Amino acid sequence: MKSKHGLFNVFVGRGLLALGLCSPLLLGACGESEESVVAPEVASDSVTYGDVAPMITMRCGICHIGGGTGPELGGWANLSDSVTATEVVDVMENGSMPPGGPRISVEELQRMQKWVGQGRMK
Ligand code: HEC
Repeated sequence: MKSKHGLFNVFVGRGLLALGLCSPLLLGACGESEESVVAPEVASDSVTYGDVAPMITMRCGICHIGGGTGPELGGWANLSDSVTATEVVDVMENGSMPPGGPRISVEELQRMQKWVGQGRMK
């Protein structure tokens, strides 16, 4: 009986983990395929805060969200500040952030550039 219980726990645990990974906060982690299935044109043309926030949280959040050494990048108001947004694109392009890497991917850079280019939509 003990082993069956264990399997059940593993199953439920995985289910919860999958739900957690697919939460709106971390859409970047698993939302790509869903987006391209639902509406590829819209997903690739229009970039909103929700499309860039997850990568900022994952790649930069540890030092830039909720108080840190660098500028605050958490929340639309902070990230969409025109000076901040331009700086963010700059450091992603020149690879100076995150310090010591790993470097942001081309796809992530392009997404950020589009968001800024399209007027930093909410
Ligand atoms: C390991 C901690 C750490 C991570 C991760 C990190 N930064 Fe920074 N960032 C800093 C520190 C410290 C500074 C301020 C000192 C400096 O300029 O080096 C800074 C400064 C900045 C600045 C101000 C301009 C500048 O060059 O000084 C920007 C913009 C910035 N970071 C963006 C980002 C972005 C975007 C990411 C994610 C792709 C990121 N950072 C990831 C630590 C970090």
